[in-house]
Amino acid sequence: MKTLKIADGIYMFTMNVEDILFEGIWEIANGVTLNSYIVQGEKTAIIDGVIGWDGIPETLYVNLKEIGIDPKNIDYLIVNHMEPDHSGWISNFRKIKDDLTVICTEKAAKMVASFYGEDNIKIVKEGDILDLGKGKVLSFHPVPNVHWPDTMYTYERETKTLFSCDMFGAFGRMGDHCFDDELTPEEIDFFEFEGIRYYSNVMTTFTPSLRKAIEKAKTLEINTIAPGHGPIYRKNPQKIIDDYSRFSLYAEGAGKNEVTILWGSMYGMTAKAVDYVEGILQREGVKYNKLEMPLESDSEMVATVFKSAGIIIAAPTYEYKLFPPVATALNEIGRKKITGKVAFRFGSYGWSGGAEKELSEIIERHKMKWDFIESVEFEGVPKEEDLIKVEAGVLKLLEKMKAKVVE
Ligand SMILES: Cc1cc2nc3c(=O)[nH]c(=O)nc-3n(C[C@H](O)[C@H](O)[C@H](O)COP(=O)(O)O)c2cc1C
Ligand SMILES: [Fe+2]
Ligand SMILES: [Fe+2]
Repeated sequence: MKTLKIADGIYMFTMNVEDILFEGIWEIANGVTLNSYIVQGEKTAIIDGVIGWDGIPETLYVNLKEIGIDPKNIDYLIVNHMEPDHSGWISNFRKIKDDLTVICTEKAAKMVASFYGEDNIKIVKEGDILDLGKGKVLSFHPVPNVHWPDTMYTYERETKTLFSCDMFGAFGRMGDHCFDDELTPEEIDFFEFEGIRYYSNVMTTFTPSLRKAIEKAKTLEINTIAPGHGPIYRKNPQKIIDDYSRFSLYAEGAGKNEVTILWGSMYGMTAKAVDYVEGILQREGVKYNKLEMPLESDSEMVATVFKSAGIIIAAPTYEYKLFPPVATALNEIGRKKITGKVAFRFGSYGWSGGAEKELSEIIERHKMKWDFIESVEFEGVPKEEDLIKVEAGVLKLLEKMKAKVVE
């Protein structure tokens, strides 16, 4: 775990976590950081005390001592969000200090009590203030359903720092560069994709609430955004606000100017048409991503479909239905409420077909409202006339997706 000074009396502790399934589901290829913050006036508050998988809380105590804070002298534990990646340290901390006040929203308080047995809880509402002394004044701003119903922002007035918790967060491990002004162009791209991965894997279902949280952030004068995961934005906090606004559009059908081919094939028949489509996309100079299911991780699959303006589904019929790994992927996309994408499907069948019917059922079941170009199905190997139809479908998709591009 690393300690960074953000301003006088404000510190960040950050640790990289790798080799876990985030939420027990997501294989996060590039890890994630858990960030915790200290605000020190006459009184000391810790915001989102993290527990990790690396020997924390003991390492946290070592880091606290490094900046001259005895853990016993922490007065307030501010729980912006009860999820254990932000609060898992409470029980352990309680063992070394019993006159500790937990500060959180009413919704979080119920969970802090039921998960950790805490009872010394001060519930805060919109605009409530905690004066720590020496000029450090915190205010609290609930942002319900930014992930969970309990979430709030904590804002420090003197330095105009927003401790935004999951909001404005990103996956991705951090090396030596933790502030936006230190990131290299490669790291900026890395965290943009890891932001998309985070938003699409964890947050996108709550897009209407995230939009409200963006509006709430705009009512505060912000110099620095300090999220619970990912880099701190002190040079240009507006960048991550704009990124999150853009991601909220991706959740509803917009995307980058790129196509994702979500595909699977048992004996290579559908794959032949995929090869053909790649040739068309290359000829047309279109950026594209290929996701072969079930080889791709759910995390990568959801993030890549989410950020693309055009989706090609290439999958055969299997037992009178859609090739299962592709059906599973689409169900996951549907559960995440990723709506409004422009899409085109083709695929091979042997005798009856059936993939198309299940595709419609999935789109209907999850109310995905995807805008489909007419599908192309072919018996066995794709023939010349099938490939002509596939090409026409792809060209229509490229035309239609133009209206959806938001970079
Ligand atoms: C396990 C299995 C189940 C299948 N079920 C059906 C089916 O229900 N209806 C059908 O028309 N074809 C069915 N087929 C035939 C495939 O759709 C056909 O072989 C197609 O060309 C496979 O395309 P691919 O090589 O891209 O996987 C099935 C094939 C397999 C291997
Ligand atoms: Fe969360
Ligand atoms: Fe989190």
